Amino acid sequence: MSELGMNLTLKIWRQKDAKAKGKMETYKVTEISEHMSFLEMLDVLNEQLINTGQEPVAFDHDCREGICGMCSLYINGEAHGPDRGVTTCQLHMRMFYNNDTIYIEPFRAKAFPVVKDLIVDRSSFDRIQHAGGFISVNTSGNTQDANSLPIPKLDADKAFDAATCIGCGACVATCKNASAMLYVSAKVSQFALLPQGKIEAKDRVLNMVEQMDKEGFGNCTNTGACEVECPKGISLENIARMNSEYLKASLVREK
Ligand code: SF4
Ligand code: FES
Repeated sequence: MSELGMNLTLKIWRQKDAKAKGKMETYKVTEISEHMSFLEMLDVLNEQLINTGQEPVAFDHDCREGICGMCSLYINGEAHGPDRGVTTCQLHMRMFYNNDTIYIEPFRAKAFPVVKDLIVDRSSFDRIQHAGGFISVNTSGNTQDANSLPIPKLDADKAFDAATCIGCGACVATCKNASAMLYVSAKVSQFALLPQGKIEAKDRVLNMVEQMDKEGFGNCTNTGACEVECPKGISLENIARMNSEYLKASLVREK
């Protein structure tokens, strides 16, 4: 690497809109600091494109600190790039070498249609959440003191782990079937493990799985790629829990 930073070749998916046929375009960026985040490197490219009268590359981002789940890039064939346990916005350029060629694509899945360039529409996740990812307990007025309802530490920890899913969609983009089972199972688990989630548990799992199927996500074949690429380390154990919840709920509904 030169003292000034890295020189890189970027192969980026460009697509004018949802209906247009996209293609990979090649760009060069120079003097990229290893301390930059991947999105800052794209900011440099976009500044360069704007300064030369070209259309900047559209990509999703918001918090830039691994919380919102908006950044969603497929980098060199991996969701969120080559690092582990990080989102695209937390990926640093030190993971790359001078003169590297980097391939940047949108998350690809039938249920995540491309909107423009690297931006995909993940509203299918929102619709799954609306189908059951909530509790309807009235929390105004005479609410019970939280400490009056003891919850085993292990259950509380597992519910918290499931609740760290940020809805980024990397699990879907990584899965060869474009399955959303890891995402949906995290959303089901975070409530299934806690007493306040038990009230609507059966409808929740049945409705969320039904909506997941309607959105066109694929089936889970237990390859486990989703768990490897998930920036929040959501465990496959959640899928097993969701399957068990689903089976129990289906048996009750059929009676
Ligand atoms: S399970 Fe992981 S990869 Fe999938 S949406 Fe949640 S945080 Fe992202
Ligand atoms: S921009 Fe919010 S998680 Fe990356």
